[in-house]
Amino acid sequence: MENIQLPYSSDELKSASFQRNHQFLLDLEKRVENHPVFDHPFLVKFANSEYSEEGVLFVLKQFGKIVMPFTAAICKLMGSAPDIKSRFMLMDNLYEEMGHNSLNNCHPVLYLKMLDSIGISQRGLEKTEAISSIRLLNNTIFDAVSNKSFAIGCSWLGFGGELTIPNNFPYLIQGIKNCFGSDIDMGFWNRHGARDQDHSDDATTVLCMNTNESEYKALENAVMDSLNLRSMIWSELEKICDEKYQAVFFNVTDKIADKIPA
Ligand SMILES: [Fe+2]
Repeated sequence: MENIQLPYSSDELKSASFQRNHQFLLDLEKRVENHPVFDHPFLVKFANSEYSEEGVLFVLKQFGKIVMPFTAAICKLMGSAPDIKSRFMLMDNLYEEMGHNSLNNCHPVLYLKMLDSIGISQRGLEKTEAISSIRLLNNTIFDAVSNKSFAIGCSWLGFGGELTIPNNFPYLIQGIKNCFGSDIDMGFWNRHGARDQDHSDDATTVLCMNTNESEYKALENAVMDSLNLRSMIWSELEKICDEKYQAVFFNVTDKIADKIPA
């Protein structure tokens, strides 16, 4: 917990059911560690500057479609928390997302500032249509946090979401820096990284407090669906960027060779 004190007692954290659930999630985490969402080829290409500036702008607008609704999803999940301690756990993540009570530092606001620094207005983002896989992800997340059990909601926002960030974000950050250098406001990205692993750990803790063996299969399915959808997003972006936004490299050696008479 970054900003608040863990609401659970050591007895609660040592209970047999907590330990059993925790072990299940550790095993699950191990089983998904080679999932294609990690080190996805699109992310590698993006980090290697294989796409044009127009392509990077396209990707950042699409990524904004995932970032912007996230605080609403946490709030909805908080509403279905079964007790005050579970809700309190989510408060830490929400407090971070809400910029520690500073509107200027709310993560969605930081994302808009980043876009503004490279010439994309809030209106420009709003006018952008999300690609199919991002629409599917957002619809599924909101269905999970609104209509499914609290533990299933936690697994969508915790395991399947924040768990991918420590692996995926550094690729995005590298590609963005290569493209824009110091001309871009990186405040949003600076707020993510190790911190997200903490949030993921918190989501694991609150999930362990609120599930049991009868739900394990459903939890595993939710985590797999979440990772699969996130991988589909990278694949869809890769297809679009490969077709429309390949960077053009000017190969000097080839051009000089062309000019040398045979
Ligand atoms: Fe965030």
